[in-house]
Amino acid sequence: MDTSCILVIFGGTGDLTHRKLLPAIYNLKRSQNLPDNFAIVSIGRKNLSSEEYREQIYLSLKKYSKYIIEDIHWDDISKRLFYKNFNFNDIKGYSELKTFLEELDKKYKTSGNRIFYLAVAPEYFDLITDNLHKEGLVKNTSSFQRLIIEKPFGRDLSSARKLNRKITEVFSEENIYRIDHYLGKEMIQSLMVLRFANSIFEPLWNNKYIDNIQISSSETVGVENRGGYYDEAGALKDMVQNHMLQLLTLCAMEPPINLTSSSIKDEKVKILRSLEKITPEKISKDIIRGQYIRGIVDNKEVLSYREEDKVSPVSNTETFVALKLHVENFRWAGVPFYIRTGKRMKNKSTEIVIQFKSMPKVLYGKSSDEILPNLLVIRVQPMEGIFFQFNTKKPGTENIIIPVQMDFCQNCQFGINTPEAYERLLYDAMNGDSTLFTSWDEVEYSWKFVDIISDYWKNNNETLYYYESGSLGPQKAEELLLKENHHWWNI
Ligand code: BG6
Repeated sequence: MDTSCILVIFGGTGDLTHRKLLPAIYNLKRSQNLPDNFAIVSIGRKNLSSEEYREQIYLSLKKYSKYIIEDIHWDDISKRLFYKNFNFNDIKGYSELKTFLEELDKKYKTSGNRIFYLAVAPEYFDLITDNLHKEGLVKNTSSFQRLIIEKPFGRDLSSARKLNRKITEVFSEENIYRIDHYLGKEMIQSLMVLRFANSIFEPLWNNKYIDNIQISSSETVGVENRGGYYDEAGALKDMVQNHMLQLLTLCAMEPPINLTSSSIKDEKVKILRSLEKITPEKISKDIIRGQYIRGIVDNKEVLSYREEDKVSPVSNTETFVALKLHVENFRWAGVPFYIRTGKRMKNKSTEIVIQFKSMPKVLYGKSSDEILPNLLVIRVQPMEGIFFQFNTKKPGTENIIIPVQMDFCQNCQFGINTPEAYERLLYDAMNGDSTLFTSWDEVEYSWKFVDIISDYWKNNNETLYYYESGSLGPQKAEELLLKENHHWWNI
């Protein structure tokens, strides 16, 4: 397969490019996973020469790459890295870009192949796509032109549909790569392998043996410099609509008929279609919204959400959400899926906990001794690995049962060589593999689900529970599980 291409990044001076995209390119170069025929053109609104841009990127690589920057790799990237300065609505900029890319094609033998990466604010997505089309940068020839688009894909279902209509006028669905960077995380990719390559797990992966599933993603950071966006979005749209529902589909989906991108996506979509209907009663009963107040995180005192920059001082936006939902199909009927995500929490951690049903108390656990359930935990980050808890007898003369753990630590085994999410995603896009990107159907069904909740919140004064920064979220989120005799496992 011809992977030679020019990567054209809109938003070349932005945070994402400096912190994630160029470091990912560097790592790909280092691991010899970049095509030989390759170039990068970054576009931004700052007035910089390519030379100045390279100097800035070099500093960012030193700061953000997990590897030491070696001249041998950097020299090669640097001579293929260019910067163009124009406004995204300046049509002349696109025609000049076109000519420039054609010149680079000759120099770097990139065969007219392009990957356009939109690392910009969402209001520019359709403008840029439109202008690329108008100026003939997306052609129907033997070369490929792909579009990578960052989240958020719309603010709700109707804006997502509108955006999708716009971009599909220019790029076909198979050439659209919608980023959900959680799918690029190693342990998320491992989840399918864990389920479908292990005969000890798959037969148990259903409502006969699984009691409940908990998907948690907590962050210690607040809204950082994104108050303007976040105050409109909130945790539901920022995390649940995409990352959390993606994790849920991967936990719950049926085995696909093969490993092609479309077979996997078909199964994921079926799960989104089987999510239980959300009613106003359910929203009030099973969905908890929270907002952080002042507190101490990582030994530092931090401000409350309402005091953050670009956040309304009377904001009711949720920075935490916990919900219980069901997947209404044969495999999962009756099994609660608990989802929880929040900012300014005690720890940075993403984990999926599979709690198995308890054994009948016929032989053990009859009296006061409690027997803990088996737990299988997929540790997504920051530690990557798989943890399994089971019961054994405590050595000694008495018959005491204790839980013990097997803990596979992926980071310990593979160290820093585990590819980062963006590394994997860029690599896949160059190779034309969209498995780890979200299809339009997935986006559409996720918005359908989330819209019902957010519309209800907009029109009803649903309680907002405050939680101290540095805590595990509002107490009310604990009660959500206690009602069913469950509790969150904070492994
Ligand atoms: C992004 C959200 O998609 O994911 C951010 O917009 C959030 O608000 C981030 O901080 C979390 O990603 P990660 O990889 O740090 O868990």
